[in-house]
Amino acid sequence: MQLTLTRPDDWHLHLRDGAALAAVLPHTAERFARAIVMPNLKPPVRTVADAAAYRARILAALPPGLAFEPLMTLYLTDHTTPEEIAAARASGFVHAVKYYPAGATTHAEAGVTAVQRAYPAIEAMQELGVPLLVHGEVTDPEVDVFDREAVFIERVLMPLRLRFPRLKLVLEHITTREGVEFVRSAPGPTAGTLTVHHLLLNRNALFRGGLRPHHYCLPVLKREPHRLALVEAATSGDPRFFLGTDSAPHAHTDKESACGCAGIYTAHAAIELYAEVFEQAGALDRLEAFASFHGPDFYGLPRNSARITLTREPWRVPAAYDLGHGRRLIPLRAGETVAWRLGA
Ligand code: NCD
Ligand code: ZN
Repeated sequence: MQLTLTRPDDWHLHLRDGAALAAVLPHTAERFARAIVMPNLKPPVRTVADAAAYRARILAALPPGLAFEPLMTLYLTDHTTPEEIAAARASGFVHAVKYYPAGATTHAEAGVTAVQRAYPAIEAMQELGVPLLVHGEVTDPEVDVFDREAVFIERVLMPLRLRFPRLKLVLEHITTREGVEFVRSAPGPTAGTLTVHHLLLNRNALFRGGLRPHHYCLPVLKREPHRLALVEAATSGDPRFFLGTDSAPHAHTDKESACGCAGIYTAHAAIELYAEVFEQAGALDRLEAFASFHGPDFYGLPRNSARITLTREPWRVPAAYDLGHGRRLIPLRAGETVAWRLGA
């Protein structure tokens, strides 16, 4: 069986820098025409000048013959100015701004400490039509880690949505029923990205036969009823939900550690794994809109015209990829099979 789709885009991707960038970029560029590139480098991508330099490094790392457009983002801080937002809009290559609550996840130390501090920048984003991409978790240590998305929606996102009714808002990597419900019911232009690992796995995957650091990401995997709500949203045809892998490469030594990093790597088989989810849900006919139409429509970008083919033919994922400098990257399904293959 074969499936031909308009070439998809990835609306949430971590590419890193240097040798890691060179190692992971081909996986994304083979599958996707464009990707929203997250700005959580160390130090973060804070200005349009930072984004221009990072974009040039990405394009320089692109293997010849692969067409790929990195859609750049800025990292929102307490000090992001409305002038920087205006420069972002004018740049033509910065397409969104990412809001990390300070300390919420990998490289989020420089994030926003209180959302009010970022209001001047957010006001400018609303006026200029620059989307705000949100990592939706509170960092309050009193809040149970499995409840942090739901509490963030109530404490931060609802008030933000009401205060900036015309702001383009994306709740990134939704992991709960509450997240799905927020996107469906929020007033104003609201969307949500869905990762393939949250569609495939529930939190049991963290503990199957022992502690599984390669299934640890943020927001952390949730219970089965939440996963089912995400699958329903992804396969419903609702244009407010679209593909964002949150593929997040880390060296195996940083994952297999007494304090392992958050992040799951899926870029090596991303669209193939989404095809598994849609096939299991009996919704393969809705994969193309989710992967290739809803994202550009929300961002106000043209849909891609090129196409890709997927073939229903299982293949084995390598046990590891080389991440450069002697580091290894353990991908999702390492040593196991994926049901769909890229190409005819
Ligand atoms: C991401 C990373 O490693 O950069 N990790 C993750 O678990 N998703 C950061 C993020 O998107 O939260
Ligand atoms: Zn991410």
